[in-house]
Amino acid sequence: MERNKNIFFIGFMGCGKSTMARLLTKETGMELIEMDETIEEETGMSINEIFATYGEAYFRDLESQLIKRITEKGGAVVSCGGGAILRPENVEMMKKNGQIIYFFASPETIYKRVCNSNNRPLLNGNMNIEYIASLMETRLPRYLAAADITIEVDGKEKQDVLEELNAIC
Ligand code: S3P
Repeated sequence: MERNKNIFFIGFMGCGKSTMARLLTKETGMELIEMDETIEEETGMSINEIFATYGEAYFRDLESQLIKRITEKGGAVVSCGGGAILRPENVEMMKKNGQIIYFFASPETIYKRVCNSNNRPLLNGNMNIEYIASLMETRLPRYLAAADITIEVDGKEKQDVLEELNAIC
């Protein structure tokens, strides 16, 4: 992997993008960008507050603007929000200067990881495996189409996933 390019981690909420991005940047010294955290810092609002105050489309605009800025630079491991691949222009920008890695986790695994979280507006009030599975079904083709590489994370330890990443990146 050329270090002047970015590595984008994509996948459903709770699939481990942020954790793996932190671990990989510790090892490689690359810059870490957690998109949701960056948006929260820049707006001074939580993701919940942004959705509640301005709506999802406004949040998606912030995401697109951030991706544009990231892709104008390079050298970062980027933990993308789960919906960052919903706009084709975002994927286009990512593909131009980076490698896109998709973490696949089953709805059951996702549920276990996110069930105690309340800062994911799309799941607030929908916190169950059936809803996660249906949202995942609509998104799966987009994740797969965007991905250069897919890593299945079900049943794997962080260290196993890190080794797979080291072999790829
Ligand atoms: C979203 C995923 C979240 C966050 C927002 C919307 C989505 O990020 O961007 O709640 O549409 O899948 P994480 O995937 O980091 O939880």
